[in-house]
Amino acid sequence: MSAPLLSIRGLRAGYGPIDVLHDMDLTVHSGEIVAMIGANGAGKSTTLMAISGVVRPRAGEVRFDGHDLRALPAHQIVCLGLAHSPEGRKIFPRLTVLENLQMGAFSRTNPQEIAADLESAFTMFPILRERMHQAGGLLSGGQQQMLAIARALMIRPKLLLLDEPSLGLAPQIVSQIFNVIRDLNQKGVSVLLVEQNARMALKIAHRGYVLETGRITLADKAETLLHDPRVRAAYLGE
Ligand SMILES: Nc1ncnc2c1ncn2[C@@H]1O[C@H](COP(=O)(O)OP(=O)(O)OP(=O)(O)O)[C@@H](O)[C@H]1O
Ligand SMILES: [Mg+2]
Repeated sequence: MSAPLLSIRGLRAGYGPIDVLHDMDLTVHSGEIVAMIGANGAGKSTTLMAISGVVRPRAGEVRFDGHDLRALPAHQIVCLGLAHSPEGRKIFPRLTVLENLQMGAFSRTNPQEIAADLESAFTMFPILRERMHQAGGLLSGGQQQMLAIARALMIRPKLLLLDEPSLGLAPQIVSQIFNVIRDLNQKGVSVLLVEQNARMALKIAHRGYVLETGRITLADKAETLLHDPRVRAAYLGE
């Protein structure tokens, strides 16, 4: 088997005196959607931030596409093709939709490629084209989530880290966003998906991890996790 696209071994990370993640092992292979589920405060967002360099790992190894990410600052990690769409969207509310997308392409230089990627963002989310010149802060929650994903895609990532894309959105919008995730994956983007909606996440994922208070407690094929009685009781409301 080829080397994983993302490989995490023995990761420890946290804030101030507190360790949040303990001895974490996790991999994402090229072409995969990998779901991470867990309760509030389990450390899911911290995991994504430790990968993208927002939080510095304290121990262990984080490798992406042949690079040791622990040696690199966040803005260089992005340039390797690793995009992070954070929890709560974090779009720039005073910038227009178009400007938000252009910010996503900050590391790129070829204007034709950027124009082509803008076009595909607008094809993926037609509402963003309609709202192109409006301030991002005027968009609805669902539209802001679309913008956050589209902005992350502007670096042409190999791996997309998605933190709670469905949070607070109406079911119809959630379906639309999950369809986009599936389409992107079919076009070759690998995805590490953090989700409160465990059922939907495991349905589109190839594999999944369960995180409990900073430790991985289950790791398996998504299909297997969907039928695991522990997962069903704790995360699928059964
Ligand atoms: N900036 C921070 N400073 C200190 N502690 C933090 C910080 N961010 C998160 N934590 C703590 O780290 C732990 C893990 O938080 P994290 O946000 O990673 O969890 P999560 O699984 O994403 O939760 P949620 O489902 O609520 O988004 C929590 O105990 C949280 O209080
Ligand atoms: Mg979180």
